[in-house]
Amino acid sequence: MGGITSGQMKLGSFPDGEIAVEIQEDVREKRVFVLQTIAGDPNRYLCELLIIIDALKRASASSIVVIVPYLGYCRQDRKDRPGVPITAKLVANLLTVAGATRLVTFDLHADQVEGFFEIPVDHLHCQTLLAKTAKELMQNNCVVVAPDLGSIRIAEEMAGLMNGDIAVMKKRRLSSSEVEMTLIGDVAGRPVLLADDICSTGGTLVAAAELCRKLGAKRIIVAISHGLFVGDCLSRIESSPIERLLVANSLPQQAASTKLRQLSLAPQLAELIHSLIR
Ligand code: R5P
Repeated sequence: MGGITSGQMKLGSFPDGEIAVEIQEDVREKRVFVLQTIAGDPNRYLCELLIIIDALKRASASSIVVIVPYLGYCRQDRKDRPGVPITAKLVANLLTVAGATRLVTFDLHADQVEGFFEIPVDHLHCQTLLAKTAKELMQNNCVVVAPDLGSIRIAEEMAGLMNGDIAVMKKRRLSSSEVEMTLIGDVAGRPVLLADDICSTGGTLVAAAELCRKLGAKRIIVAISHGLFVGDCLSRIESSPIERLLVANSLPQQAASTKLRQLSLAPQLAELIHSLIR
């Protein structure tokens, strides 16, 4: 963004592994934007973010806008069985207590997570960006498939943008990387756009694509917001019926695949930042 330079900060570790942060700018009474990922090494990066926010608060920044394009730990957003935490709420508390005054993020795992925060949240979406490229690749009569019930909001939005129909899969998890699917809807003879928020191990998308192919789908394109691509995820996708994998660049991506196409969220983010500093 024109006229704005990035601030200087020293980031390192103490000999015992604790994170060491030093803000090397005068931020007194200034609005500060912190852009941080907490994907890849979520425990370290989340801790790093909290410590950076604390340092900025103690250096008297007037506001601290935290931009985390993919907010991790949000898949645990309710107590669905005894003995489990609600990490999405915990992360919201931690960020707020540390001193964040606003959060900017893309496609939270569930919309209601926004309500876990007592600070304003700019909850942006990747679907317009993804649909624009999907439209260039697919004809009009596509079926947008939600690979699980939690993805219906995203699939509905995509179907609206693509002028397509919608179908939904019922997913039963067999293990952390294996799932069983049943389709509610019809994909026979139609191009399919599978739409989800996260791809982690790829188990969900690969199982959904295989079922669509079995049920007669013509071609299968995938559009996702956050590509975690854990372990052998991309090679599983490479040998699956998925023809193309569109992903927003909400986190740093080292992984490569001939099927992968990354789309930039930068213009959307820049527009939002601009509206906040006007
Ligand atoms: C689940 O609720 C999410 O929307 C994704 O479907 C899930 O995180 C994908 O995980 P995996 O790629 O490991 O199947």
